[in-house]
Amino acid sequence: MNLTLAEGEKLITEILQGVSGLKPGTEALFAVPFPYLVQANNLVKGQTGMFISAQDIAATNNGAFTGEVSGAMLKSIGIKYAIIGHSERREYFHESNELLTEKVIRAFEHGIHPIFCCGEPLSIRENGSQNTYVNQQLRDGIFHLDSEKMKGFIIAYEPIWAIGTGKTATAEQAEDMHAHIRSLIEKQYGTDIASSVSILYGGSVKATNAKEIFGKPNVDGGLVGGASLNASEFCEIIKSLKN
Ligand code: PGA
Repeated sequence: MNLTLAEGEKLITEILQGVSGLKPGTEALFAVPFPYLVQANNLVKGQTGMFISAQDIAATNNGAFTGEVSGAMLKSIGIKYAIIGHSERREYFHESNELLTEKVIRAFEHGIHPIFCCGEPLSIRENGSQNTYVNQQLRDGIFHLDSEKMKGFIIAYEPIWAIGTGKTATAEQAEDMHAHIRSLIEKQYGTDIASSVSILYGGSVKATNAKEIFGKPNVDGGLVGGASLNASEFCEIIKSLKN
C-alpha cells in the first residue's frame, strides 16, 4: 500500500526505461494496488515479458462481498496474475490456509496465475521446524491442484522474519528451503513439473544481494517489496535474474 497513481506511473516508466529488454526466459511482474491495475497494464502493454499482477484476489465469485475484488473482475481488465497469501495478508487480515485454498481455486477458474506465498515466522525458524511449517502451508494451499495446474506454478518463499526488516535469509538458507519445496513438489507431481515451477525468494532482496541469492540453483527469482519502490535499485535486481 504505497504511492499515489502519479508516483506509481513514474516508477514503472522509469523502470521500463532502465531495463531495456529482459534476458530470454525471464519475466518481470509489477504487483500494483487494485485502483492502479488498468493504468499499469497500459504502461507495460507491448513490453515482452512484462506483466501486471494484483496483490490479492477474492476467495469468492461475484456477489455481496463489499470491498472484495474477484477473479472475474481482474480477468475483465486483462490481469493474469495475483499474489495469494502474502504474509501480510495472513498476519494482518487473518487469512487462513483454508481461505487461501479457495483463492487459488478462484484464480484458476478465471485464468489467473497465482503467485502463492509461503514462509515461516521467526519463532518457527528458531525452533528449527520451518520445513514442516512450509510443508503444511503448501499441502493446504496448493497440493490439491492437479498436475496440469501445477505446471509452471509460481511459489514465493518469504521467511516472515526477513520481510521489510532489512534482515535477509542467507543465500544458503534460501537455497535450502527452495530445494526442500522443490523436493516436495517432485514427490507429489514428478520431476518435470517440479522443475517447471518457479520458486521466488522474498524478504529484503536488494541490488546488493540479488545476484548471490538468484545465483542459487533452486532460486528462480525474487518477490521484492521495499527495493522495488526505487527504480534504479529495482532495475539492478531485474538485471540480476539468471536466464
Ligand atoms: P521486502 O518485502 O522486500 O521489503 O522485504 C518483501 C515482500 O513484501 O514480500
